[in-house]
Order: sequence, then structure tokens, then C-alpha cells
Amino acid sequence: MHGARKANPVRVLHVSDVHISLGLRRVPLADWPGKRLAGGINLLRGRGRRFEDAVSKLSRLAELADAERVELVICSGDFTAMGTASEFAAAREAFEPILESPAEFVCVAGNHDLYTRQVVRERRFEKYFGDLLQTDFPAARVDGSWPTVRLFGNHVAVIALNSARPNPAPWVSSGRIPAEELTALNDILGRPEIAGRFVFVVTHYAPCLEDGSPDTPAHGLENAEAFLRTCAGIERGAILCGHVHRTYRVRLPAIGPQIFCAGSATMHELEGFWLLEVEDGRVSAHRGRWNGSRYEVEPEVDIEPGYR
Ligand SMILES: [Fe+2]
Ligand SMILES: [Fe+2]
Repeated sequence: MHGARKANPVRVLHVSDVHISLGLRRVPLADWPGKRLAGGINLLRGRGRRFEDAVSKLSRLAELADAERVELVICSGDFTAMGTASEFAAAREAFEPILESPAEFVCVAGNHDLYTRQVVRERRFEKYFGDLLQTDFPAARVDGSWPTVRLFGNHVAVIALNSARPNPAPWVSSGRIPAEELTALNDILGRPEIAGRFVFVVTHYAPCLEDGSPDTPAHGLENAEAFLRTCAGIERGAILCGHVHRTYRVRLPAIGPQIFCAGSATMHELEGFWLLEVEDGRVSAHRGRWNGSRYEVEPEVDIEPGYR
């Protein structure tokens, strides 16, 4: 359908880190040991309160997607705060207005969605969001659902990789893209079905901060260099990520695709996202904001090149 409309831009809404939480009383006692204790202390300290309007904000986001005629929504993870079953159920419900819209939906898990080993063992993310992880290249999967590949019309492809994992130590929230996923990414980028398309490579962890420098070892993507090397040759594309709760756009020297970090769509006073328009192999980007009662989109601004 979209392929016939060559001259029309494809409008993509990139959101992340909505962190739906239900407060401490809704976490079963059995879920408290270890990592969750640290997460719970964070909620008590007020971090949770910064996300308390997340559910209602998501319905405003669906209205914006409708008004902006968005055709593809990409969420780069951290749907929940602590990966509990009730948070997942609430997050799925909160996304329904967006999922019911005509826009297609692609997502990855964040570290908060794979918060503990038990969450991963129970495949909770897959249980609540697995029906949204379809791929056009099933044989290219090397690590559970990943990479997930979606060809969108004739001009856009999305390749989604998992970089999140449980970090049992409370002070660590780093990520890593498994080596086999990077090899698969390299193979997918060389396939004829991808040639000529604008390629979005999506993962939760940011390969760099807004000034182009690496994130810290305790918070960042361990193998950011290898990931960026694999993406470097993409002529028409963009890397989409979250995890860092600030909305930014950066171009690194010698790396083809620009990097867009959506930040958090729902975090009080930091709300942000990207509305991206792909046309003739290039992307124009509009930053989204929350004005206190609804989301709005700014005019495009040019970026300064980052450094490494
Ligand atoms: Fe997050
Ligand atoms: Fe995260």
C-alpha cells in the first residue's frame, strides 16, 4: 500500500522509556529480593512519581500519532519500572490506543523489562509484547526474537536488536548486544531486500551520549564501538535508542546513520520523543514535547556534529 506512494514521506514516531509503574503496594512480596529492593528504594525516593501520569500521557500520545498521520511507531524499550506482571499488563493496556491505530508498531525490551533473571526465565516481555515481535526474516533470528526485521512499504526497513539484560547488582544498569546479533545485523544489511531502503536500527541502549562521548561503563552499552562499526556503512539510515532519559540527536564522524535517543516520553519535566519523516532516503526530525496537557512537535532544527 505504502510502496505505491513513492513521493510521500513515511512518518515515524519514536518513543521510549515510558516506565509504567504501579507503586510499591502492587509488587508481590516474593518479588522483593535483590535488584527490586534497589528499584523500590528508587521509587520511594520519588523517581516513580516522575512517571505517575505515564498511562494518561500515553493516550495523549496516541492522539498525537493520529493527528500527525504517523504510519510507524517504534518504541525502544523500558515499558515498565521493575518488570512485574502487573506492570506489564498495565503497560500493554496503556499502549492499546497506539496499537489500535493504523500505524505499525515495532519495539524492543529495555533493561527494566528484563529486570531480574526470573522475569527473563518467565519470558514476561514475550508474554505481554511477543505478538508485536513479528519478523520478515525469521531465519535471521539468532537470539530468541532477535534480530527482528520489518520491511515497511518499499522504502523503509526496521532492524531491532536486543541490548538489555538483567543486572543483578543494584548499581549496574549496563547493556550489551550479543555478538551473534551483531553478525546477524551485518548479514541483514547486505541482503538485497534491504538495498535502497532507509534503515532504522533500533536498540534500547544508547551507543553514545548527546555530545558523542560514550556513556559510563555502569550505565552504557558495553560494546557500543562494535555496534557503531557494524552500522558505520549504512548510507541511508538512523540508529534509534533510549535508556538515557534525555531526548537528543547526534551525528558521529565516520558513522553513516545519525543517532536519535528518544529519551523518556513520560518522565515529568523531561518528556520527549522524535517524529521522523523519511523521504527520498533522508530523514527530517522533529522533537516532541509535553506542554502540560498534550504533546506537541517542534519545527526541525539542524544538529551540530558530535565527537568521539
Ligand atoms: Fe529508562
Ligand atoms: Fe533503560
